[in-house]
Amino acid sequence: MARRILVTGGAGYIGSHTVLQLLLAGFGVVVVDNLDNSSEVAVERVTAIAGKYGKNLTFHRIDLRDKDALDKLFASTKFDAVVHFAGLKAVGESVQKPLLYYNNNIIGTIALLEAMVRHGCKKLVFSSSATVYGWPKKVPCTEESPLCAMNPYGRTKLMIEDICRDIHRADKDWNIILLRYFNPIGAHPSGNIGEDPRGFPNNLMPFVQQVAVGRRPTLTVFGNDYSTKDGTGVRDYIHVVDLADGHIAALQKLFKASNLGCEVYNLGTGKGTSVLEMVAAFEKTSGKKIPVVKAGRRHGDAEILYASTRKAEKELKWKAKYGIEEMCRDQWNWAKKNPWGYGSPDSTS
Ligand code: NAD
Ligand code: WQD
Repeated sequence: MARRILVTGGAGYIGSHTVLQLLLAGFGVVVVDNLDNSSEVAVERVTAIAGKYGKNLTFHRIDLRDKDALDKLFASTKFDAVVHFAGLKAVGESVQKPLLYYNNNIIGTIALLEAMVRHGCKKLVFSSSATVYGWPKKVPCTEESPLCAMNPYGRTKLMIEDICRDIHRADKDWNIILLRYFNPIGAHPSGNIGEDPRGFPNNLMPFVQQVAVGRRPTLTVFGNDYSTKDGTGVRDYIHVVDLADGHIAALQKLFKASNLGCEVYNLGTGKGTSVLEMVAAFEKTSGKKIPVVKAGRRHGDAEILYASTRKAEKELKWKAKYGIEEMCRDQWNWAKKNPWGYGSPDSTS
């Protein structure tokens, strides 16, 4: 029988792409999401793209903090593993509303882990973030680099990593993979699913995309005095489909090794690209001019952040396939087909 995976936050950006790859790989998938930052349309589109595999997907609108709803779900369905994406992710908002972030991300995760214990499911893949490296003194970041969260969002990631390490220390039946994502961008090549942030986009490429389709007049570039090739910040951008495939590799590892413990892997490409290089690459693939306004540094931003990919390559047998050009091509394809994301001009701001 096909393995069944519970995906929390599966209606979101990375979750929807991962659910699709899971279905195509033959898994049964159950998504729980409260739709706080996503749309059920994404789930419907994933079902359609997956074709004959679409029937293996079910969706439940559940908030992770709703213990009774989670218990009912676990009681009615046996899961072989959980992939846990659900959480709030806007750094700036987390500084303004720390309690919202601690409540949602930490309490939501604890509720999930408790339900997993109650129902005997002890295999987990968790979405951590390169944000746990803070402003690294040395790049590339390896999994052993010092950890330092610089805002409440980042602290929720570090705390959840620690919780995972602790529960494994206490109970060796747990097998956990913590994946530290670098900067996921792009969209599925079909152009039917992609990133659709609510309100003002916090991240670079969603903003660029909204300028390209005429929703915003200019891109503000934060900082032009960094010690980088053109003075702008450098990041490790990774195609979201590559990232999604990293989860399949992680699950395969979890199912193969019964005493894996709690392991952490970077998911990135190992290559650094500056803000202005990203803008130029997007302009080239889209044929659209992106007017930029230069501004000061954004508080809390690191100068250069990119991954060492050696551990994931060696132990997960996973390596990103796509380059910047394909990331921009697929981002633009999604934007062109869905200038208002999953909504309409009236439903978005
Ligand atoms: P997203 O906001 O698109 O997806 C998160 C999903 O979780 C949303 O659909 C949201 O509705 C759901 N959710 C939030 N709180 C919930 C709750 N209490 N109960 C049920 N559902 C809930 O974000 P994403 O970009 O797909 O990120 C997925 C995960 O990866 C997050 O944990 C995020 O912190 C992490 N991450 C993202 C990035 C990035 O740049 N996108 C980088 C590193 C790590
Ligand atoms: C990339 C570069 C900005 C927007 C964030 C989170 C991190 C992770 C990924 C979840 C930086 C510059 C951006 C804009 C700009 N998410 N920029 N103008 O900051 O590397 O990481 O998303 O875990 O935790 O912090 O990504 O896309 O926001 O920024 O010039 O309008 O683009 O200064 O150099 P970041 P980003």
